[in-house]
Amino acid sequence: MHDATLRSDLRAVSGHLSSLAADLLVLPTWDGDDLADIPELDVATAGALADARARSEWRGKAFATCLVAVADASWPARRVLLIGTGSAPESTAQIRRVAAAAMLEATSRRVASVAFCLREVNQTVEAAQAAAEGLTLGEFDGGSYKSDAEPHTVGNVLVARAGAASDSEQGAALEQAVARGRLLGACSNAAREMANEPGNTLTPTVFADRARQLAEGTTLTVDVLEQPQMEELGLGLLLGVARGSAEPPRLIVLKHEPDGAADAPVLGLVGKGITFDSGGISLKPPDSMELMKDDMAGGAAVMAAMRAISLLGVPIRVIGVVPATENLPGGRAIKPGDILRSADGQTVEVINTDAEGRLVLGDALWYAKRCGATHLVDVATLTGGCVVALGKITSGLFGAPNGWVEAVQRAAGIAGDRVWPLPVFEEYADQIRSDIADLKNTGGRAASPITAAMFLKAFVGETPWAHLDVAGTAWSEEARPDQPKGPSGVAVRTLVELACAHVRWAGIGA
Ligand code: BES
Ligand code: MN
Ligand code: ZN
Repeated sequence: MHDATLRSDLRAVSGHLSSLAADLLVLPTWDGDDLADIPELDVATAGALADARARSEWRGKAFATCLVAVADASWPARRVLLIGTGSAPESTAQIRRVAAAAMLEATSRRVASVAFCLREVNQTVEAAQAAAEGLTLGEFDGGSYKSDAEPHTVGNVLVARAGAASDSEQGAALEQAVARGRLLGACSNAAREMANEPGNTLTPTVFADRARQLAEGTTLTVDVLEQPQMEELGLGLLLGVARGSAEPPRLIVLKHEPDGAADAPVLGLVGKGITFDSGGISLKPPDSMELMKDDMAGGAAVMAAMRAISLLGVPIRVIGVVPATENLPGGRAIKPGDILRSADGQTVEVINTDAEGRLVLGDALWYAKRCGATHLVDVATLTGGCVVALGKITSGLFGAPNGWVEAVQRAAGIAGDRVWPLPVFEEYADQIRSDIADLKNTGGRAASPITAAMFLKAFVGETPWAHLDVAGTAWSEEARPDQPKGPSGVAVRTLVELACAHVRWAGIGA
């Protein structure tokens, strides 16, 4: 796949700090921490640590860093970076985030090798996995079109059980957790890389090629439907949105069908794949329109998650569906007032051509069901209203029945993606009733993320379905300690965790 995103070599080790072969030792620290579990550190830094503490340079505050030199020449490491996790030393989510922040810091300091040390309270497989995820996420570089010199790469990275003797059973569990974190981080970065690509380099055709590349070295099968097949199937909503564009649309379908998997459940993952959203005839204002190159972030998340699901050997069937097209104005583009017919035979009055995501997803959800999906999740940069409601921290979560929505919420919690539920009460459907057709594609300003979800709901019937609106979370317009400006890779790990948790939800809706 895109091992371009994997620039370092990452391994798991156990051992005393004095033996860790890395230039920089990273140690998570927290409020009230006294480093009592690693007394050798104060000696090895010749008291510099105690000094830093006396001057309040070393604090546990989240992401606060303190760098001290190692004085003991017998240690391979030259520096120690303390980085704060805040008040919760054992929080896996916080370990993931500080590991990412530490990797960004190590890269900007042009350090050659790093050991991220799991302290006594962090020596769980979950924390090891999270550290590997964070360190890998911290490797992502969004400057892929810069002509100047190669950015610095931290070549060797360790996730270390600090102070622990190497015990072969625990060592194997640690290695496995680190490999899993590495894979989840790498697949998140693959999704970020795609979301970062501009509309002129990542057309629907190129996006489909990326799906084929992501399937390399896995057992995934990839089917790419072109216009004639879409016409045959009657995917009128997807074809309608594509009409304004000179680039042909694609319906990208990835299938994970492991040997011996039961007929049910079949997890259906559907991702919005608008490779550029200008709004169409209902043209968007120019401010920040360039960011609409990431309107395929949901589709990228689905494709990248499918790779991880296959490589992890998840024992159930999973299918990924990504409706890919541009949304552009043009002489043949759909116009407000036009009526489209969906694959499942519903008629839709297009009120605003900028509400294109729900159109392409309506047909894609139908297609996922047709392929046998028994449980659906879609991921979409769907509404500006979701950004107003939940900001850039939390993705909106919608769906039915509640048990299924809760399964998604739980997976997101494990993955470190923040999500929060919003209702899909039937009364909201009144807002998208059309005078002339079955549905209209906008429901006005009130509760716009919910009426968008209600539109999708009209295409899923009784199948358990959850929808993640990632309009606010797919892209960060500001640099944060743990994430540079740009694509976040949101939802990739949630989808993978959900697939892995199938035993918990397989009975829902059956
Ligand atoms: N892709 C946009 C939603 C979006 C907005 C994503 C801001 C990221 C940041 C979507 O296609 C859209 O244009 N939605 C409109 C729908 C409206 C016209 C009913 C919206 O929410 O404003
Ligand atoms: Mn739009
Ligand atoms: Zn859009």
